[in-house]
Amino acid sequence: MLVCYLTDEPGKIPAIRAALEPRYPVVPRVLGQEPVFAPSGVLMVDADLREPTCVEQIKHAMGDLDAVSEKLFVVHRHLHHLVAQAFALGATGVVHSAKQAASKLTQVEAARRAAETGAESAPISITDSGKAFAAMFSAIGHGNAIHLADAETVTTQIISSINQNGLHGWLDNVRKYHEGTFQHCLLVTGIAVAFALDIKFAPQDVKRLGMAATLHDIGKARIPLSILDKPGRLTPSEEDIMRQHPVIGYDLLKDIPGISPETLDAVKHHHEYLDGSGYPDGLTAPQISDLVRLLTISDIFAALIESRPYRAAMPREEAYKILCGLDGKLETSLLKAFRRAALAA
Ligand SMILES: [Fe+2]
Ligand SMILES: [Fe+2]
Repeated sequence: MLVCYLTDEPGKIPAIRAALEPRYPVVPRVLGQEPVFAPSGVLMVDADLREPTCVEQIKHAMGDLDAVSEKLFVVHRHLHHLVAQAFALGATGVVHSAKQAASKLTQVEAARRAAETGAESAPISITDSGKAFAAMFSAIGHGNAIHLADAETVTTQIISSINQNGLHGWLDNVRKYHEGTFQHCLLVTGIAVAFALDIKFAPQDVKRLGMAATLHDIGKARIPLSILDKPGRLTPSEEDIMRQHPVIGYDLLKDIPGISPETLDAVKHHHEYLDGSGYPDGLTAPQISDLVRLLTISDIFAALIESRPYRAAMPREEAYKILCGLDGKLETSLLKAFRRAALAA
């Protein structure tokens, strides 16, 4: 499998060669100088996405590369906020280092082999949903309006994926291909949709819950990444900032034409608990809608089973037990009903 390595910095070429060759021969190209050559469909872009000239040159190069199935962008970990930019430019995946690129290529190779032998193919829907999330977060980051159509696209894709393949495969693929807030939002939506389908919600109600889940943490786009991606516990002042995300999300969405009141309610109140111990408004049971109750269960479950670079994902059985131990905060009858969807094979 040849890899076309497109960079703004010829000095980076020896390091990528050392990491990938001889298993994956590297065809290097310097941005803006030569046409891109990606015969086996693997392109790796390693350039400074903060530089407008680089971005323009990448856009230009990507124009001819629709047929290339794998477009990996290298975004160094300390520049994590550029992940959205990479997806906006057409990335199908993001890696943080040359070493990670090598293991990603091994996955690509395995997926292709599986596709050739008729086994499960690469998860296109995961890539598309990731891109739509990236578009929404990047719009907020640039001070632009969020398009409800992006949220609807993600929600519809997730509903059809869960309908066709169930929750189990969705969880595994999302944890493999996405990180941080995107991973969390994709997991919450998948779990909420699986829950709604399992308890036989009407299609329009599955969609309502899915939309609320897709948008529930959109306010995190305005929380500094140093807090959002911090490994380990937040300090009390960081916690205060983090706790602003439901209200920030509500404010970002409230004036969008066509947004439903129940989505706004879910975005603002998904951290409220029945016993009044939640935030931001300390609501109690009579003030918390069914949709919010379902979303809160899905949200906490997703947070527990997330995979983070610094800790392994918790098994679903264990996460479900923790949920059941949150006395008085979540609705017991809904939790019981959640068991089958949460633990489905
Ligand atoms: Fe949240
Ligand atoms: Fe959340």
